[in-house]
Amino acid sequence: MTTAAPVVDPVVTGMRCAVCGTRMGIGAPLTWKCPGAVSGEPHLLRFERGVAPLRAGDDPNPFVAFRPYLAWDAFAAAAGLSVEQRVQVIRSLDASIAAVDGTGFRWTPFARSDGLSDALGFSDRGGVWVKDDTGNVAGSHKARHLMTIALHLLVAEQQGLVPWHSVGERPHLAIASCGNAAIAASTIAAAMGWPISVFVPQWSEESVVQRLDSLRATVVRCPRRDTDPPGDPCVLRFREAVASGSIPFAVQGPENAWCHDGGRTIGWELALQFEAAQVHREQPGALDRLFVQVGGGALASGAWSGAADRANIPRLHAVQTQGCAPLARAWHRARALPGGVGSAGAHWRECMWPWEDEPVSTADGILDDETYDWLPIVEAMSSSNGYPVVAPEMLVREAHRLGCASTGIRATPTATAGLAGLLTVRNDVHADENVVVLFTGVVR
Ligand SMILES: Cc1ncc(COP(=O)(O)O)c(C=O)c1O
Ligand SMILES: [Zn+2]
Repeated sequence: MTTAAPVVDPVVTGMRCAVCGTRMGIGAPLTWKCPGAVSGEPHLLRFERGVAPLRAGDDPNPFVAFRPYLAWDAFAAAAGLSVEQRVQVIRSLDASIAAVDGTGFRWTPFARSDGLSDALGFSDRGGVWVKDDTGNVAGSHKARHLMTIALHLLVAEQQGLVPWHSVGERPHLAIASCGNAAIAASTIAAAMGWPISVFVPQWSEESVVQRLDSLRATVVRCPRRDTDPPGDPCVLRFREAVASGSIPFAVQGPENAWCHDGGRTIGWELALQFEAAQVHREQPGALDRLFVQVGGGALASGAWSGAADRANIPRLHAVQTQGCAPLARAWHRARALPGGVGSAGAHWRECMWPWEDEPVSTADGILDDETYDWLPIVEAMSSSNGYPVVAPEMLVREAHRLGCASTGIRATPTATAGLAGLLTVRNDVHADENVVVLFTGVVR
């Protein structure tokens, strides 16, 4: 944590669709999806921002510390809330979350792992830095994405900007997930006292379902139906629920663009934490690379765009496993387009389509058959001179063993899969480089 409270006017001014160009003002309520997305084809709203130097306020809650940079803050300001009221909305929801989960939002730990750095042969000048989100709300980074959707809903409702008239008429929240995102969503829903339906696969882990039950979520098991088109049946049932009025409480940008807002907090935190740590080093370094495990892609997109808000922009490496790697395919397709990566939004289905084989990996949290948020990641890798990494299963397992043993963090194989990417391309990385990995989910 650094410096004094920032004095910055809200920096997000609106949203624009990366596919069809539709623009919306930031004050419009419930702008989850592009209104042009009528045919079922994916669209993606992205925030338009002015330029403001990134400075964190001196607050342990990242949503308060980085409040002026959040799109939510601009939305709430447009809805008529003063700065004090905006801070109060965050604090009040955070206190309710802490009452449900035992912890509210706090900057999560970030440090150079000397053990990992030595094991991988980095010099004192460089090293492997670990951002540890395993102690975050609901045990993963996912709650960061959902917090800004929840804040948006609360303000919209409080200011009378929603079509329902009383708390009793609230439509259900809906999410398709079998793991961390489901637990995070149900935790925040419980904190808000908002009903939620969670669409889970037939084979869901009993411990997860029990946790969802204890959070009073409505759990809907989703076997594949004979009449289903290709794709994840949980996502199909989720979309049906949204089509009939549920609110997409989703961690995928095309389903709810507002998840990208809070997703940036992890990048803002680590960029400032990295800089703060350089002061104590004999040879301060720059943040050279960010390796991020990619399932749906919202994490990598948010982490990089947050980190890139500081002067030094890290190279982004999006990491998937050999058992499910649609993003690397999209990267090659997008770069081969006549208009290059910059034109990829208009060529969505030429670049991204569901992985044909049954996705398999020990990193089972990143087996999304489509990388929903592939576009911002491909753009980020292109502009930062990064590239995708497809990790072999042996290194996914080795990263899990080494990552947990070296740091003492109780992370899952999904959570250490970014490290598997570093192991895969270790020979391309100089020993003096500073490399960040994100340990994102705790073993339950
Ligand atoms: C622990 C953990 N890390 C990383 C990811 C990947 O995040 P995303 O789906 O946004 O790419 C997930 C997604 O489920 C996860 O559970
Ligand atoms: Zn659109």
